Amino acid sequence: MLASQSHLAMKPSKGKLPFSVMVVIVCALAFALILYAEDVKSLARSSMLKLKSCPAQYLAPAHTAKTPTVDEEEIDERDYDLEECDMVKGRWVFNRSRKPLYTEESCPYIDRQVSCHTNGRPDDDYRYWEWQPDNCVLPRFDAAVALERLKGKRLMFVGDSLQRGQWMSMVCSLYSHIPPDQKSMKRGHSLSIFQAKEYNATIEFYWAPFLVESNSDIKVIGDPKKRILRLDSISKHAQHWIGVDILVFNTYVWWMSGLKIKSLWGSFANAEEGYEELDAPIAYRIGLRTWANWVDSTVNPNKTRVFFTTMSPTHMRSSDWGNDKGIRCYNETRPVLKRGYWGSGSDGRLMSVVGSIVKRMKVPVSVINITQLSEHRIDGHTSVYTETHGKVLNDEQKADPLHNADCIHWCLPGVPDTWNQILYSYL
Ligand SMILES: *[C@@H]1O[C@H](CO)[C@@H](O)[C@H](O)[C@H]1NC(C)=O
Ligand SMILES: *[C@@H]1O[C@H](CO)[C@@H](O)[C@H](O)[C@H]1NC(C)=O
Ligand SMILES: *[C@@H]1O[C@H](CO)[C@@H](O)[C@H](O)[C@H]1NC(C)=O
Ligand SMILES: *[C@@H]1O[C@H](CO)[C@@H](O)[C@H](O)[C@H]1NC(C)=O
Ligand SMILES: *[C@@H]1O[C@H](CO)[C@@H](O)[C@H](O)[C@H]1NC(C)=O
Repeated sequence: MLASQSHLAMKPSKGKLPFSVMVVIVCALAFALILYAEDVKSLARSSMLKLKSCPAQYLAPAHTAKTPTVDEEEIDERDYDLEECDMVKGRWVFNRSRKPLYTEESCPYIDRQVSCHTNGRPDDDYRYWEWQPDNCVLPRFDAAVALERLKGKRLMFVGDSLQRGQWMSMVCSLYSHIPPDQKSMKRGHSLSIFQAKEYNATIEFYWAPFLVESNSDIKVIGDPKKRILRLDSISKHAQHWIGVDILVFNTYVWWMSGLKIKSLWGSFANAEEGYEELDAPIAYRIGLRTWANWVDSTVNPNKTRVFFTTMSPTHMRSSDWGNDKGIRCYNETRPVLKRGYWGSGSDGRLMSVVGSIVKRMKVPVSVINITQLSEHRIDGHTSVYTETHGKVLNDEQKADPLHNADCIHWCLPGVPDTWNQILYSYL
């Protein structure tokens, strides 16, 4: 669909960009801005969000037909540490007597962006759903056991803001089990480190939204059209990953602006000489290969364990789950319980790239396959209970979910706790 839109752009009527193209551009920008809500200073242009109502399809990643592209045989062949337990197939079960591992009050490290309750979210059922795989029991997260397993180790999450959510969830899940004088937190632009001193363990987050190098890493560029990636270059980031004991990577949503990916071969100094525009799945494959080559050539599998968290679904189009009157994920308070539910916010093409690359790697990589279980959780996003310009949305902004509902990020405590429950089961 987006391809046909850009086709239109090549023969503009009456010398003006057709309206549909304008909408695509403005909405791609809006999509990008939502992603960057964490980087307050870069939000100068978020007034663009007000300009126009964005039909959901322009905000959602490119729609693809039914997804599973890696067939089940291939999945079963993969070297899972957990025998016989397929985390992917299962269901969400509501259980109010199951307490979240932490609260916004008990953990000081939850960014305001995802502190939904503090930001005024009235309902709290979203905290009490439990993922139950069909054929096995997903062990409950036990902070004392987790700390014991992390003793003397560095655990580092690497990726985008979704990955940062998983990192905060992990920190908070452990937080109250560490005495006050035995923990510390240092937040940085690209590297943040939480330390559990008595265990000599660190839980770290490294910001690299594409994993590979781009001109929009530390100083985020709001306009996706201006972003340029160096798909074959990763060492600037990767030098910070050396020596880590447990590496957990992700990258997905930044590739999904709906635009082609500008790819530069060589240094940014040569940017004028031109870049190549590639379709997202192609660029993604090249970028992930660069990542895989780094892992295979640098990581010693006897010392370091490598994980990859699959794509975190976005829920921008309520008609996906049959709520034709809805606005994105706004007001949703229950998961979609239909088995195997899959919406337009998860691009199966990128998933199959992950599958095929990981399968061929020398260093074993455990895939934390969160996509299916998160697909159900239309109720778990921050929606309008988030921040913009460093401030919680005001009532007027909250009343305008069409422009302001963030259906990419997840409330904490919430869905990312389950991602960590899976990671925990591998530790
Ligand atoms: C609900 O959670 C409680 C506390 O963790 C547990 O004891 C109980 O078995 C759970 N109920 C179901 C139906 O899973
Ligand atoms: C603490 O952990 C680091 C690795 O994260 C290790 O190099 C160091 O020797 C450990 N120190 C002690 C006292 O165990
Ligand atoms: C990892 O350990 C195995 C068995 O101890 C050994 O054969 C192999 O050379 C080691 N690999 C590396 C990269 O150190
Ligand atoms: C959202 O929920 C509120 C309260 O239940 C209701 O008044 C409002 O109409 C709902 N809005 C939409 C768009 O569903
Ligand atoms: C993750 O699970 C989905 C099914 O929900 C499957 O289609 C996909 O291939 C899996 N991805 C990987 C990388 O294993």
